[in-house]
Amino acid sequence: MDHFNLIDGDLHCEAVPLAAIAQEVGTPVYVYSSATLVRHARVLKAALSALDDPLIAYAVKANPNPAVLATLAAEGLGGDVVSIGEYRQARAAGMPPERILFSGVGKTADEMAEALAGGVFQMNLESVEEAHMLSAVASATGHRAPVAFRINPDVEAGTHAKITTGTADNKFGIPAAQALDAFRAVRDLSGLIVTGATVHIGSQLTRLAPLEAAFVRLGELLRTLRDDGFALSIADLGGGLGVPHGAGQPEPPSPQEYGAMVARVTHDWDIRLAFEPGRLISGNAGVLLSRVVRVKPGEHHPWLIVDAAMNDLMRPALYDAYHHIDAVRPSGKRMTAHVVGPVCESGDTFATAREMDAAGEGDLIVFRTAGAYGAAMSSGYNSRPLTPEVLVDGDRWALVRQRLDVSAAAATPLPDWLR
Ligand code: LLP
Repeated sequence: MDHFNLIDGDLHCEAVPLAAIAQEVGTPVYVYSSATLVRHARVLKAALSALDDPLIAYAVKANPNPAVLATLAAEGLGGDVVSIGEYRQARAAGMPPERILFSGVGKTADEMAEALAGGVFQMNLESVEEAHMLSAVASATGHRAPVAFRINPDVEAGTHAKITTGTADNKFGIPAAQALDAFRAVRDLSGLIVTGATVHIGSQLTRLAPLEAAFVRLGELLRTLRDDGFALSIADLGGGLGVPHGAGQPEPPSPQEYGAMVARVTHDWDIRLAFEPGRLISGNAGVLLSRVVRVKPGEHHPWLIVDAAMNDLMRPALYDAYHHIDAVRPSGKRMTAHVVGPVCESGDTFATAREMDAAGEGDLIVFRTAGAYGAAMSSGYNSRPLTPEVLVDGDRWALVRQRLDVSAAAATPLPDWLR
């Protein structure tokens, strides 16, 4: 459930008409709902309430806007970060070190050193090579880093190939069959304390079975490791639970069903569990608000050319992802159209032959489920500014990221030979 609803025929975010935001900030613009973020955090906390003190570390990559992070930090969520930039954002937003997990296959020595100095709950390691680097960095700076190895369970997650992470052909984690050797190889490294294991098999998962298979593997490994003398205190089950996209798209299991499965599979693990949800928290808490620039007649269907483009919301171009489209002031009429942006690529297509609310030149529309991996993945392609972001809370709203003209901001003088 989200808080984007029609009130007197106008689409609102909570109590604020989207048209008012478009009027003041211009379009395209991302609009986030505080109440929806909070609701999603609470629904997940409730779904996991049978567990003993679970650590919920929001995957910052999904939406690192400082106002979004501060909203979630106030709900007690920590952060799963994959770069020192995300680490700094999580800390600045009030997420304490004891709720921060540091993931990622390519952490550099500088990133490790800064995170250790600032404090971190756990570093999730992806290779023995990385463990050696971290141990050296930690020892040199007088730290012992709490670490978990990420296991690659070789499970097909049943999602888009580009967001599948737990098969043997993905770059992530240590193959489950080699995990014991990897743990043994780092057992005596003086800069590390081995605390646990982690698994994450992909994103926008719409079935529980692959997650359950991965967790079962992790449980088997925990037993093997304990038999081998490792004292483990954390099992991190990653993120990945999908969100509903509406209209005929595969329905994911509910957080309650997910929580019940986790409780069942892990009941005898005797370990604290951590979670790294991203999309589940912020996906349906945001829309991309855009205006129709013009309607161009087409061979089969009209081209609805909007002022948002693939640089603002890359998911359709990158993963053929479906984003539901609604008119901000629906007339009740419907149309079938190709919805495209102004960028000079055929890939700049949001929807092909989409049956949707009728919209014409000057009308506002929204792309739904744009609160995760939307603004976070935007770029300045075609010298387009980075889209601004707005956070709504009840009847108040604030600009939480300016429209950024990247080409101007990054402008540096020409090299002298070109002047
Ligand atoms: N933990 C780890 C280690 C991850 O790699 C990810 C996502 C998450 C947690 C959070 O997953 P979530 O709960 O959001 O599914 N850009 C793609 C999604 C990439 C996900 C990358 N890793 C998209 O727009 O669909």
